[in-house]
Amino acid sequence: MRSHIALLSVLVYSAVLEANVLKSKRVTEASCELTASSGDDAPQFLAAAASCDTVIIPAGTTLNIETRLDMTGMSNLNIDLQGTIRFNPDLDYWSGNGFPITFQDQITFWLLGGENIVLSGGGTLDGAGQAWYDAFASNSSLLRPIILTLNEATNVLVEDIQMINSPEWFNLVNECQNVTFNNITITAKSTSDNFISNTDGWDIYRSDMVTIKNSIINNGDDCVSFKPNSTNILVSDLNCNGSHGISVGSLGQFSGVFDIVQNVTAVNIQMANAENGARIKAFAGDDVGSGTVQNITFQNFVVSNVDSPVVIDQCYETSADDCEEFPSNVFIQDIFFNNISGTGSGSQVASLDCSPGSRCTDINVNGFDLSGSDGKTTYECQNVVLAGNAASLFGTCTTT
Ligand SMILES: *[C@@H]1O[C@H](CO)[C@@H](O)[C@H](O)[C@H]1NC(C)=O
Ligand SMILES: *[C@@H]1O[C@H](CO)[C@@H](O)[C@H](O)[C@H]1NC(C)=O
Ligand SMILES: *[C@@H]1O[C@H](CO)[C@@H](O)[C@H](O)[C@H]1NC(C)=O
Ligand SMILES: *[C@@H]1O[C@H](CO)[C@@H](O)[C@H](O)[C@H]1NC(C)=O
Ligand SMILES: *[C@@H]1O[C@H](CO)[C@@H](O)[C@H](O)[C@H]1NC(C)=O
Ligand SMILES: *[C@@H]1O[C@H](CO)[C@@H](O)[C@H](O)[C@H]1NC(C)=O
Ligand SMILES: *[C@@H]1O[C@H](CO)[C@@H](O)[C@H](O)[C@H]1NC(C)=O
Ligand SMILES: *[C@@H]1O[C@H](CO)[C@@H](O)[C@H](O)[C@H]1NC(C)=O
Repeated sequence: MRSHIALLSVLVYSAVLEANVLKSKRVTEASCELTASSGDDAPQFLAAAASCDTVIIPAGTTLNIETRLDMTGMSNLNIDLQGTIRFNPDLDYWSGNGFPITFQDQITFWLLGGENIVLSGGGTLDGAGQAWYDAFASNSSLLRPIILTLNEATNVLVEDIQMINSPEWFNLVNECQNVTFNNITITAKSTSDNFISNTDGWDIYRSDMVTIKNSIINNGDDCVSFKPNSTNILVSDLNCNGSHGISVGSLGQFSGVFDIVQNVTAVNIQMANAENGARIKAFAGDDVGSGTVQNITFQNFVVSNVDSPVVIDQCYETSADDCEEFPSNVFIQDIFFNNISGTGSGSQVASLDCSPGSRCTDINVNGFDLSGSDGKTTYECQNVVLAGNAASLFGTCTTT
């Protein structure tokens, strides 16, 4: 029976091959190897993902993707990317046809979803970002695609992959469960004077059980960001350079929406040349949302040339007066900053600014060894009850 099914599937596949002049070659029953065509390789990549258990993009092969990749609802798919997948920078096409992501009005080249998916093989995803960086410099409303969006996916492993020059965020994990990224190298680099804006390494949204580990990130915005409803997350052994740090939030932005970030650990992080090290940010003010941030640990961070190594901002984008009148409805509790060392770019190395009214509780600061610039090291805090050995550092706030 099995051999009949296999034969049938080979016949069906051959028919598809002839019909669409596909370039893929069925190597075994379960695996297909792709060869670059002279045009858009999206159709053959999609067809192979739909009919082969393993899709191989061999070393030396570059798939040229000119149209969007809807690879949702897959099951048991293994993408063995040894070569390169490059997203052709046709700005008009993508800004009109990229898949829309409702959260923060974004678009993406590639939706990958379903269950039991592996993307690995040592190869490269190339966002061909330079044309986007240059165009964005004169059009700040240009919609720029995220390279990879894991969308409604369960049990996913992304391993041994390099990602270069994303037009915008590199990775969005959207409505997923049990996702691991291991040994990923992310590099955004502009060859002109135009900046690599919004090139976040990872953004996690409405997802549970996500691990990001053993990776190197050179980018121009958040290294990793935990957006609303990120739960049970482990981030470990990252080397982040040039970023905006590892951030919870911003949360509580949208009126009527309740945001949860809970059970996050970020450990063994090298953070260089960054705006922030470890950060939590939540909106206050009139007509905003609400939520809770609970049980977040930032541990073993080594910072160098970081503007704000440790930050809680519970009056994010809100004036001091407004924050007094309309404190944040995102409650922050059980936060641990443990063993944070290194040097800041300025004298202030930590600021814990909370809304009035006891909305930050059980904030623990242990084992800081931070120094500021010019021989000065200062700490700042507002409306926060501190635990741990923070009293000696943060003179003015209440301590337990
Ligand atoms: C800027 O980008 C937007 C959105 O992608 C687009 O609609 C608009 O035409 C662009 N403006 C210019 C001047 O190119
Ligand atoms: C998570 O996904 C991995 C595959 O990436 C799988 O081996 C593991 O069993 C899954 N864990 C759970 C709890 O489902
Ligand atoms: C990490 O991935 C790269 C390919 O991007 C590979 O060359 C290297 O061997 C991998 N490292 C480990 C420890 O597997
Ligand atoms: C690290 O980031 C800085 C500032 O963005 C940049 O100048 C430097 O080249 C980066 N280092 C590496 C190794 O890419
Ligand atoms: C987050 O999860 C809570 C509880 O399930 C839900 O009420 C809320 O709407 C979710 N928020 C978002 C932004 O998805
Ligand atoms: C956070 O972890 C605790 C302890 O493992 C668990 O009971 C709780 O359900 C987790 N929270 C979420 C939102 O998963
Ligand atoms: C806090 O979160 C970590 C995962 O980051 C989890 O292991 C731990 O059980 C959680 N603790 C509580 C009290 O929920
Ligand atoms: C503190 O962090 C540094 C750098 O990651 C690490 O080498 C050291 O072992 C950590 N100390 C403790 C007590 O965990």
